[in-house]
Amino acid sequence: MHILGISCFYHDSAAVLLREGEIVAAAEEERFSRVKHDFGFPDLAIEFCLAKAGIAPEELDYVVFYEKPFQKFDRILNTVLQTFPGSLKVFQDAMINWIGDKLWVKTIIHKRLGVALDRILFTEHHMSHAASAYFCSPFDEAAILTVDGVGEWATTAMGQAKGQEITLDREQRFPHSVGLLYSAFTAYLGFEVNEGEYKVMGMAPYGEPKYIDRVWKTVRREGGGGFSLEMDYFSFHRSTTTSYSEKFIELLGPAREPESKFFTRSSGYPSYYGPKPANYEAACRRNEHYADVAASIQRVTEELVLDMARELHRSTGLDCLCMAGGVALNSVANGRILKESGFREIYIQPAAGDGGGALGAALYVHNALLKGKRSPVMGHAYWGEEYSAAEAADQLREMGAEWEEIEGEDLLLGRVAERLMAGDVIGWHQGRFEWGPRALGHRSILANPTSEEMKEIVNTKIKFREPFRPFAPSVPAARTGAYFELIDPERHYPARFMLLVVPVREEKRSVLPAITHVDGSGRLQVVVREESPLYHRLIETFGEASGVPVVLNTSFNLRGEPIVNTPSDAYRTFMASEMDALVVGNFLLTK
Ligand SMILES: [Fe+2]
Repeated sequence: MHILGISCFYHDSAAVLLREGEIVAAAEEERFSRVKHDFGFPDLAIEFCLAKAGIAPEELDYVVFYEKPFQKFDRILNTVLQTFPGSLKVFQDAMINWIGDKLWVKTIIHKRLGVALDRILFTEHHMSHAASAYFCSPFDEAAILTVDGVGEWATTAMGQAKGQEITLDREQRFPHSVGLLYSAFTAYLGFEVNEGEYKVMGMAPYGEPKYIDRVWKTVRREGGGGFSLEMDYFSFHRSTTTSYSEKFIELLGPAREPESKFFTRSSGYPSYYGPKPANYEAACRRNEHYADVAASIQRVTEELVLDMARELHRSTGLDCLCMAGGVALNSVANGRILKESGFREIYIQPAAGDGGGALGAALYVHNALLKGKRSPVMGHAYWGEEYSAAEAADQLREMGAEWEEIEGEDLLLGRVAERLMAGDVIGWHQGRFEWGPRALGHRSILANPTSEEMKEIVNTKIKFREPFRPFAPSVPAARTGAYFELIDPERHYPARFMLLVVPVREEKRSVLPAITHVDGSGRLQVVVREESPLYHRLIETFGEASGVPVVLNTSFNLRGEPIVNTPSDAYRTFMASEMDALVVGNFLLTK
């Protein structure tokens, strides 16, 4: 039995293939098309999935789409009609968009893959999210919470699952949405929606939640985990270009200049920004104001999600929680849920956003609909494409690259650890690429986290990121407790996927300056030996040499590009940056 799950036409498109309920392949389209957040039909990801399974499209038993287009269209029509004629432009855009393509998903799938119409199924958006978490989790029974921008009508769903059954019995409907609330602030703070949400989260610790009372004017708690937005402050329901209104600006002041440089007195002024501006002090104060806004919306979001989690814990009496939806990528909120909601364990799979809908759609059909054997736990994220040594050699040769082939793992790891110790920034390309937005040691850029200057060095050489964006640490499970405040790390799957922010142990903060955020926290990746043996060994080897078994891990890409897929993507990135070395399998490339 082969089931293909697809998500597309909204955010990140993706494809996932299950064989007898087990994942054979899962990938987001952007990795192949090289278009960041590609939301088109995932032709290339599907092609990859089919090749990995060694089957032709006609051999697919079912193709499942992650949401119901007609219900979604119904929501869009209803919304624009309510605000008509102000929403005329939205109406026109929606018509062109939806009548053209999005509505006829079934026909598109049928035409492109040749799959019979009665073999093409649809799941509801939030059910896809729910299934993506629960059927990958180790739980036989769990509470379910999905929170995102919006699916068809729902923006939040709550319920529970037992055995192969998921029941979502409470939902919050559009336009009342935590995801869209956070996105409106993301836009106000000068970042791109669906892209800059991480930046808001990273910026927050540089401020104080001084404006929390004002943010609570835009959203009201309704009790029982419910909430509603004060729609006067927003415009996403009647505009395609803006998400907040004039009243929002009256409340919080003028919006931050998009993509303007961010620095505060505590962040310092990065050298890659060039010379310090004449009005440095005033600029710092202005940025601190926006950091205060970021801190306020982050705090309110945490409170809203905590309300829901606490309510679910109270009403279900269960110990375990499964979470999905874009808001489940808010690793700071996740840290608080684990600590404060009453749930003992949380499961989130790495692609918690809309890309993960493809996974959930397929899992739902196998587990809940067809009652197949329960799918296994997803303990790692390595479901993408991989390249053999011969393929890597071909690609690299074609690009005119030269490399040293290192025989023996010990030798390779020793050489890499040595270079990390010397302060090199190293591209690390191994095995299958990761599922979801985080690089987890298969397509990563690695550096020494014990160096005070390393954050600035990585930014100057490769990333050019704002100084408020922390770099993440990777640490072997058995070493985690010595450096981070997380007990029993292997049990906390979100930490395997960099979806949990926890405090760095107070006495270790000065040992790990490059990965400790300004508030003393770290968005760690717990590395489990059985799931990533080579990466685990590399960190241990670095630990033997340096005394600290932790590496700095950031995604292998240039700013604004998707994470690399092929060895040639990796080589191109290596050459276009000031990275010191590149490792592809056991090939070592230097400059
Ligand atoms: Fe979603």
